[in-house]
Amino acid sequence: MVASTQSTPLRPGMMAVECSPQVAILGHQQIDFSDLEWMPEDIRRMLGDPIGYEDPRVLAWTTGNSLIARILHENPASDAMLRWVYPDRNGSPLAQPLDRILSRSPSGQALRDRLDICSVWLAEHFVCPGSSVGDLGGGSASYAFPAYAYKGGAPPGHIWEVVDLDPEALAIAEQRARDLGFEEVVRMRRVNFMRSESVTVQHDFAVLIGVLCGMDITTAVRCLEAAKRHLKPGGEILAATLLQRAFDEDPRTFRVLCNVGGWQLRPKQLEQVLDIFRIAGWDVQSVFSERAPYTPGSGQYAIVHARAL
Ligand SMILES: C[S@@+](CC[C@H](N)C(=O)[O-])C[C@H]1O[C@@H](n2cnc3c(N)ncnc32)[C@H](O)[C@@H]1O
Repeated sequence: MVASTQSTPLRPGMMAVECSPQVAILGHQQIDFSDLEWMPEDIRRMLGDPIGYEDPRVLAWTTGNSLIARILHENPASDAMLRWVYPDRNGSPLAQPLDRILSRSPSGQALRDRLDICSVWLAEHFVCPGSSVGDLGGGSASYAFPAYAYKGGAPPGHIWEVVDLDPEALAIAEQRARDLGFEEVVRMRRVNFMRSESVTVQHDFAVLIGVLCGMDITTAVRCLEAAKRHLKPGGEILAATLLQRAFDEDPRTFRVLCNVGGWQLRPKQLEQVLDIFRIAGWDVQSVFSERAPYTPGSGQYAIVHARAL
């Protein structure tokens, strides 16, 4: 397949964000793209170079040749990219070679593994009779449906509320709930969960997956404090956030998506993740990863089960 060199028009205004320190450090690395022979030679060279990747031709080429890069360039907090990378939602497979590289990278696999591991964990621990789950930044409710599939349905009296700001993600969740017969169980609310006035119910359990990844330490602490307000006293959370290991093991993917596309991820060290929970007043019960042997730090994500203090 021959990659197009035409660019797709971009929505203006997304590049004015401050570069995250982790993305800035990655930006100083020389990265090897030389084996991707289908890529124009000048793009391969500029993309790998710490200065060359800032050339506007690289942005135009990558966003013109990758749906994933284009989505994240336009809306870095988007759930839409996940809908393409997660396996069950990808109705029309990613056709462009760059998307296939990105989706099949260790980081694409980590997202699919995160979906599998967390869905099963949630099914086993949070999906129980009479329980209520608040899925904060839950996007299109990607974890609820596989959890019910694993359980063989939703237990009596169980509710899963998706709280998100993105109307498109919520509409997709709503349609899916209708299609699968979960319209009474999976409920959507369009609100900023960080604001105290967004707390209308106190849930038994909270889910916070893929939301802390772009936050600095202070914001992440505030976010976890806000999450507590959505829970009953002693309520529990399952949260997943990106580790620095992701940038270290897969710099090519993050060069394209972060240095070029402008996705300001802030991957953390495992110890920092644990500190954030401690400072925000959570008692960490267990930590695992999306990748075998599932021990803390063995994959790209820290997946944390904690109890509100
Ligand atoms: C990367 S997506 C993750 C979606 C889902 N949790 C998953 O892992 O599949 C992040 C989501 O968080 C939502 N989000 C971020 N901050 C939010 C806030 N303060 N209030 C509500 N939603 C928020 C975004 O709209 C987006 O849908």
